[in-house]
Amino acid sequence: MAKKIPAEFAKRHGELVDAIHAHDIAYHQNDDPTVSDADYDALRRQMLALEAKYPALGAQNFLDAKVGAPASSKFSKVKHVVAMLSLANAFADEDVVEFEQRIRKFLNLEASVRLAFTAEPKIDGLSISLRYENGQLVQAATRGDGAEGENVTANVRMIADVPQHLQNCPYAHIEVRGEIYMSRPDFLALNAAQEESGEATFANPRNAAAGSLRQLDSAITKSRPLRFFAYAWGDVEALPGSHQFDVVQAFKAWGLPTNPLMKLCTTVEELLWHYKFIEAQRSSLGYDIDGVVYKVNDLGLQQRLGFVSRSPRWAIAHKFSAEQATTLLEAVDIQVGRTGALTPVARLQPVNVGGVVVSNATLHNEDEIARKDLRIGDTVIIQRAGDVIPQVVSVVLEKRPANTTPYIFPTTCPVCGSQAVRETKASGKTDVVRRCTGGLVCSAQQIERLKHFASRNAFDIEGLGDKIVEEFHASSLVLMPQDIFTLAKRDAGSTSPLRQKEGWGPASADNLFAAIEARRNISFDRFIFALGIRHVGETTARVLARAYHDAATFRDQMIAAGLDENSEALRELVSHDGIGATVAEAIVQFFAEPHNLAVVDQLLQEVSPQALERVSNDTAVAGKTVVFTGALERFTREEAKATAERLGAKVAGSVSKKTDLLIAGPGAGSKLKDAEKYGVKMLSEDEWLQLIGGQ
Ligand code: IVH
Repeated sequence: MAKKIPAEFAKRHGELVDAIHAHDIAYHQNDDPTVSDADYDALRRQMLALEAKYPALGAQNFLDAKVGAPASSKFSKVKHVVAMLSLANAFADEDVVEFEQRIRKFLNLEASVRLAFTAEPKIDGLSISLRYENGQLVQAATRGDGAEGENVTANVRMIADVPQHLQNCPYAHIEVRGEIYMSRPDFLALNAAQEESGEATFANPRNAAAGSLRQLDSAITKSRPLRFFAYAWGDVEALPGSHQFDVVQAFKAWGLPTNPLMKLCTTVEELLWHYKFIEAQRSSLGYDIDGVVYKVNDLGLQQRLGFVSRSPRWAIAHKFSAEQATTLLEAVDIQVGRTGALTPVARLQPVNVGGVVVSNATLHNEDEIARKDLRIGDTVIIQRAGDVIPQVVSVVLEKRPANTTPYIFPTTCPVCGSQAVRETKASGKTDVVRRCTGGLVCSAQQIERLKHFASRNAFDIEGLGDKIVEEFHASSLVLMPQDIFTLAKRDAGSTSPLRQKEGWGPASADNLFAAIEARRNISFDRFIFALGIRHVGETTARVLARAYHDAATFRDQMIAAGLDENSEALRELVSHDGIGATVAEAIVQFFAEPHNLAVVDQLLQEVSPQALERVSNDTAVAGKTVVFTGALERFTREEAKATAERLGAKVAGSVSKKTDLLIAGPGAGSKLKDAEKYGVKMLSEDEWLQLIGGQ
């Protein structure tokens, strides 16, 4: 029986919907917000709280469906207070052994000290964050890019497995995280029904679950049998336990579904035993799982272990081995990447592997082709595991036709004809990758660099996707990144190539120009990442952006670092955390290349990279450059570094005049002298701990 809604609540709800709707339009469509984010969130929370109490109000409310973010996204966005991260993978038993050893080393735990883990199935669905306030479900958000997800509250309310309120949850707020999934029988029934009504079918239960959740009409979500398991949490007021296992048990007591196969293990052998136990039941569980997740049980240790890049150090996903199939290798194509790498791709006779049709597979590099002696016309075994690109495992030699010849890898670039070479690395080894030497002369490299430049994690230019980049390049409208920013100007004259281009016209051209215009103030880390320097991914780009603050300094310092291998600039470059010799060499080489420098300089005429905010700016060490030296007794070096970075400090490897603090343990040597020379403040490990207040 639906609860009767008191008139004043219905009225208040209506007012809130109208106000939020107006703010949504101001924000998303006019780019001109009329309230602060905090006030806006407060209005939404009030609305959602009413809807939690009277679900009928929520069912009538199509607010999210009506407005939401522009074009690319159907739903409004939710910033995750605590990022939703991914897990590192283990494939072999040894990887699990190493995982445990890494943790012991990081924490400096003797082999005799017990270290407990939970082990539970890795559900193949999509992760979701459910926010409960005073026990009521107020918001549900997808993972999105980890930092920001989509608001799918209205739809999640339709999932019977997700409680609208928690029984006896004592906290003002708690975000419960877990997996939305669809059972295999429900997936098969859904596909049969879709087929019958002439609608598209889904490739696997996970796609079906994602498609069902991301519906504008929550009535559709309601008709799809989605399920849920809780296994983690995000932003919380407090937790109902100090161990992973206990918290999940409390979730269960509150009425959240939890997986019955979760087990507490105290040795690696036990973890591996439970892995096999779960794997043996894989086909009879009724839902897809793709591995077993191990998590350190003690939450205090989890906190100390922290994160590396986007995954926790305290957890790992031990994946099941991949599903395989045999098919025919019809051809080998060579793709030329952004950095000139020639990548062989197998064109296969399409074949179904574990519910997914596969027609391409990666062949990695020429050594791999030679090692497996792959020949065109061979019957090959291919495999896929989760989301990774399918791979060719081996050849079925008995099925090899007569007259095949070994595959010969090209030594010239198939696109520009330049020599393709395998470089000798600093270690003296030959690179496995053969690269086109054409650089920016090679149109394949130009195109791939442009695609990277405009891509989501770089400049994120809406409407400038891969296809359009290829089109613009083919018609010479955009050959280099800086050309993107002169497009509008060039199109303003009477020739206006874009407005007159087939399939374009003034409206779509203006939309693109506006999207480009919006990116002139790009954050500095994205700017660096967008340059596409070899070995410089998002994490390194962030390190560089934090270290150099502005583009002109960065540019000048990188040029200086390339002029002299004893330069202060080069020493500083390699002193930054995560920047080793290979990365530094790639950066220096990039800036030593006149082509690249021209791109950077012309780009800087068009765009203004914005300095980054500090990680944490309210700690005693935020923004300070610190160096650790000597034997640390309270932490391992790795942990000390991670803590400092979490508190907003920059950890360098050597002392320079830019160093603020040197933390020295027993046995410290030359760095102490350097610190004296530069007048750097020195602290003992205990003084450091005092300074950071045991954080
Ligand atoms: S724990 C900090 N436990 O796997 C990481 N994740 O690759 C917290 N997943 O995005 C995640 N089953 O969608 C965890 N039992 C489980 C899981 C699980 C499935 C998914 C989740 C996550 C992805 C990580």
